[in-house]
Amino acid sequence: MRTISTIHRYSFVALCVLLPGLAASEPALTTGCQDCHGVDGLAAENLDAPVIAGMPAVHIEEAIYAYRDGARQCRYEPLMCETVLHTSDERIANLAEHYAAQKRDSSKEDYDEALAARGEKIHAKLCSQCHLKPDDPAVADALGIPLHGQRGVYLRYALQSYQDGRRENLLDAMAEKLKQVDSDDIEALVNYYASY
Ligand code: HEC
Ligand code: HEC
Repeated sequence: MRTISTIHRYSFVALCVLLPGLAASEPALTTGCQDCHGVDGLAAENLDAPVIAGMPAVHIEEAIYAYRDGARQCRYEPLMCETVLHTSDERIANLAEHYAAQKRDSSKEDYDEALAARGEKIHAKLCSQCHLKPDDPAVADALGIPLHGQRGVYLRYALQSYQDGRRENLLDAMAEKLKQVDSDDIEALVNYYASY
């Protein structure tokens, strides 16, 4: 009996050593998200998805719950809302921690220096009180989501969404500021955030 169980134990160990693929067949945490956002949150393979690397976990969770409860609508990419609707709270917490721990990088998009300089001034005047840089020590306590290093296409889309009602403005204070920017200002801001 003893020999048999020993053999079993050895063969079990051997299996685990020889077939690490067994462990990998467990779905990874980011399965269901990584096709669009990447494992590292930089969404390099899907240029229409937002960068979520280095976004504080609390902001990631808030955003996901906004999609879940309809405060944010996914008219452009319904699969995003569909996916998070079927993701457990526990998994959302783990995903938020995972993506928050990833390194934020520049969006590597071209930008215009003069426009970026103008955008920096607009940001300082209207947006910086709530939207801190991703590497600011107080970023997780800020009201807004870090915008530096986010892609232009997503920033334009998100701002448009608040303006045309596909996203609820969660804060009147931000709605107030958005009324003060026109489309030229938005381009300047997009260039500034790309200069990060
Ligand atoms: C089919 C592609 C796709 C899949 C799958 C997907 N997302 Fe998204 N995600 C998007 C797009 C596109 C948006 C922007 C949607 C919008 O606002 O209309 C987005 C938005 C987000 C945001 C908000 C980002 C911000 O800056 O506010 C977070 C956080 C997020 N996704 C996390 C996840 C997580 C976690 C998963 C997996 C459980 C996931 N997504 C699955 C494409 C996807
Ligand atoms: C009083 C605080 C406040 C001010 C000021 C503010 N915002 Fe926001 N902003 C927020 C909050 C809170 C959110 C998250 C809302 C949500 O989850 O949809 C947000 C979300 C955003 C988003 C979406 C980010 C993402 O990743 O999905 C963009 C883009 C944005 N703000 C741009 C701006 C710009 C540009 C200005 C200045 C003209 C500005 N905001 C001023 C609080 C603010």
